[in-house]
Amino acid sequence: MKKTLSKAPVAIVTGAGGGIGQTIARRLAEEQWFVVVNDINEVDANKTLEAITHSGHTAMVHTGDVGNTDDVASLFSAVEENNNRTPKLLINNAAVQTWASIDELAVEDWQKTINTNLTGCFTMTKNFAKTAPQGSSIINIGSGCNHLAFPTLIDYSASKGGIEMLTKSSALELGPRGIRVNCIAPGAIATNRTAQETDSYSDTWSALTPLRRIGTPDDVANAVLLLIDDKASFITGQTINVDGGLFSRAIWPADY
Ligand SMILES: NC(=O)c1ccc[n+]([C@@H]2O[C@H](COP(=O)([O-])OP(=O)(O)OC[C@H]3O[C@@H](n4cnc5c(N)ncnc54)[C@H](O)[C@@H]3O)[C@@H](O)[C@H]2O)c1
Repeated sequence: MKKTLSKAPVAIVTGAGGGIGQTIARRLAEEQWFVVVNDINEVDANKTLEAITHSGHTAMVHTGDVGNTDDVASLFSAVEENNNRTPKLLINNAAVQTWASIDELAVEDWQKTINTNLTGCFTMTKNFAKTAPQGSSIINIGSGCNHLAFPTLIDYSASKGGIEMLTKSSALELGPRGIRVNCIAPGAIATNRTAQETDSYSDTWSALTPLRRIGTPDDVANAVLLLIDDKASFITGQTINVDGGLFSRAIWPADY
């Protein structure tokens, strides 16, 4: 853990050890945020820390499971102890999924996914909101399945549908305290994880995406920077698809 006396505002990014979360953490650090890098995987979290400090910025790691209430409480204590400042930005990004039909999906896998993706988002939000100052922001990372059912992704789809409503209900509750809550729903994004989903992930999803490419973690990080800009100060309770138009496509019998 790196000690700092920096006065930079504090941002927490969950699941920042890889993929989209890592890029969001790196980009926030470049924008002079002091980033708290959370991940369940200590090695990966430290790689993100190294990347941030290597580029001359400051950050700290807190390894922990967002689905574990003790880990979440310890994260907020560690942040306070580390720099005595209250976080101003929370990115709820950590997520897992099980590819299984409803017949095959084990209850334990369902519980792990709901616990990580939805309960984790709730407990992080609850702890953050206790001290977050006016002008703070929460961004939940959702998915196209906030609104659409993805085949054989039962637990994940249910959790992201929950994130949609958690975004809206926490925006209603926290608005009077000056805390905005929004959601970003990425389309098909190039990460190490998605590259393993199919042999031709990029080709398959580029063909289905109106902008004819898959997205990058930087596309998602760009949306985070838009939502935390002062120009977005009247936007709350919203989900923004960062998907190249993918989730605007209706099921249709012919190519167009
Ligand atoms: N990549 C995509 O195409 C895509 C599309 C739609 C939505 N998303 C969403 O974007 C977010 C990031 O996705 P990604 O593709 O970068 O995933 P990823 O699997 O590459 O990264 C997720 C990170 O979360 C960490 N993590 C898992 N469980 C955790 C827990 N309990 N506590 C703390 N950390 C935990 C993992 O170790 C990993 O580093 C997720 O919310 C995902 O649902 C991604």
